[in-house]
Amino acid sequence: MRSPESLLEIQARKPIVIKDPEFSRLGKSSTNACFEVPRDRVVRIPYSRGKQSVSANSVLVQWALWYGTIAVPKPYRMVPVLCWDENLTGLEMRKIMGATLDDMGDPEDLLTRGRAEMERARQMGFVVGDGNYGHNIMYNPPLDKVFLIDFDSWELPKDHPYAKFLATSSASTSP
Ligand SMILES: Nc1ncnc2c1ncn2[C@@H]1O[C@H](COP(=O)(O)OP(=O)(O)O)[C@@H](O)[C@H]1O
Ligand SMILES: [Mg+2]
Repeated sequence: MRSPESLLEIQARKPIVIKDPEFSRLGKSSTNACFEVPRDRVVRIPYSRGKQSVSANSVLVQWALWYGTIAVPKPYRMVPVLCWDENLTGLEMRKIMGATLDDMGDPEDLLTRGRAEMERARQMGFVVGDGNYGHNIMYNPPLDKVFLIDFDSWELPKDHPYAKFLATSSASTSP
């Protein structure tokens, strides 16, 4: 398992340029801006009301879930992003080829499967955030697989190796 510092390090030298943000923004995101980027990836930028904040918490939770084999988009790296003429920072992750359950009309069987995945994470000690509804669960039809997204309101298990990092550093880093 990599160190939390290395997971939060901003890795690409050249920024990813988002040319037409209003057009290419994904979903109905509010507190984050998500864009599709080359090679079937998505970059998620914590950006609300013109302000960037990088939450180490949600990034580390996603990494910890990934290592724990919970179905989440594979996180790759923190990247610089040029968007709205601003130098921002985001998490690059695998794109889920599908839709949120919310956009699919919240089918009960898929909600049940998403909640079962959350329960698995809860059993591992994660504090599960606002995942009761379908807006933070995605479904990929070809794989017939549900994925959890958006870990802003989740917490790491208390005894997780990354939890110590959050307790001893400020919970956010500057871009
Ligand atoms: N890995 C991903 N693959 C495909 N679409 C995604 C991915 N992550 C986020 N999205 C899209 O972006 C939207 C907002 O993402 P989310 O992380 O939930 O942001 P917010 O915190 O603003 O709710 C989602 O509803 C979904 O449509
Ligand atoms: Mg969300």
